[in-house]
Amino acid sequence: MSESIAPKSPPDSLTITRPDDWHLHVRDGEALTTVVPHTAAQFGRAVIMPNLKPPVTTAAQAQAYRSRIAAAVPPGVAFEPLMTLYLTDMLPSDEIARAKDAGVVACKLYPAGATTNSDAGVTDVRKTYRTLEAMQRAGLLLLVHGEVTSPDIDVFDREAVFIEQQLIPLRRDFPELKIVFEHITTREAAQYVHSAGPFTAATITAHHLLYNRNALFLGGMRPHYYCLPVLKRELHRQALVDAATSGVSRFFLGTDSAPHPAQLKEHASGCAGCYTAHAAMELYAQAFDAAGALDKLEGFASFFGADFYGLPRNTGHITMRRQSWTPPASFAFGAAELKPLASGEALQWQLQA
Ligand code: NCD
Ligand code: ZN
Repeated sequence: MSESIAPKSPPDSLTITRPDDWHLHVRDGEALTTVVPHTAAQFGRAVIMPNLKPPVTTAAQAQAYRSRIAAAVPPGVAFEPLMTLYLTDMLPSDEIARAKDAGVVACKLYPAGATTNSDAGVTDVRKTYRTLEAMQRAGLLLLVHGEVTSPDIDVFDREAVFIEQQLIPLRRDFPELKIVFEHITTREAAQYVHSAGPFTAATITAHHLLYNRNALFLGGMRPHYYCLPVLKRELHRQALVDAATSGVSRFFLGTDSAPHPAQLKEHASGCAGCYTAHAAMELYAQAFDAAGALDKLEGFASFFGADFYGLPRNTGHITMRRQSWTPPASFAFGAAELKPLASGEALQWQLQA
């Protein structure tokens, strides 16, 4: 006799090991007091991007920046910023040993001109090879903004072209350098990482799991949905959801939460970057829930990144409940205003204090 299997109703509560954010922008100065508490309420650790003005290029600067971030963590909250250096054509290879001693975990490669504050970025990756050799020896990771910058290449194709032109040769020349292809946005990138072996991983943002490029134009131009790499078409969003929910351990969470003053996003030449730190895990839960894959969230958010970085997994837990709530439409951001992604819209999951 065949048994009828009652469809399992999706859970209303989810408790997972405390997650980490493997790609985060917190800026500096007064901005820290808004954004650091948001991240520290959710995550045990976060990899802090170094694209300040001027960029963080020395171990000493990274240590000083870490202290300023730590000072913005609310009392009683355990949160560890993991620091990175900004790779330039001139970053001397002997800075890598000092960085390692200072607890720096990685260097970030921005192709010059690819995104916000990337003017000092790398003009030709071959200029960095001595430094990459030192990183490979020291066990520092290379985090890559994977887009070519040529104005001749269509903005929607820049990630796929980067794989062929830059990433495949780099991977071949440094076979044991751990590389994270940051904030991937295309099927090509997901396929590449899937097949690239144990030293290559990728982070995926919540917004690239939730939205395709239609979100940029829904009812008018919506600058708060503009980030780099830019949102892509639906088939790419689906490929990212498949990768994130696959249980493959080389895909893990990186919000790329990137705050900008609202007036610079609502601007004739608006800044790239979506702010999601205020509700990061809720947004990921929404995406995993929609895919029927909430059981895959813990690996993606709490285990795989730590494993790839060679760091211990967190021991505490967080709990989210399925209950509708509406985050604030904006936050104070120094003297400016910060409007988060999906500002004023209800979310389906809420983190419990
Ligand atoms: C980031 C920023 O604002 O610093 N912007 C973005 O759109 N993601 C830079 C980056 O990660 O590309
Ligand atoms: Zn980023």
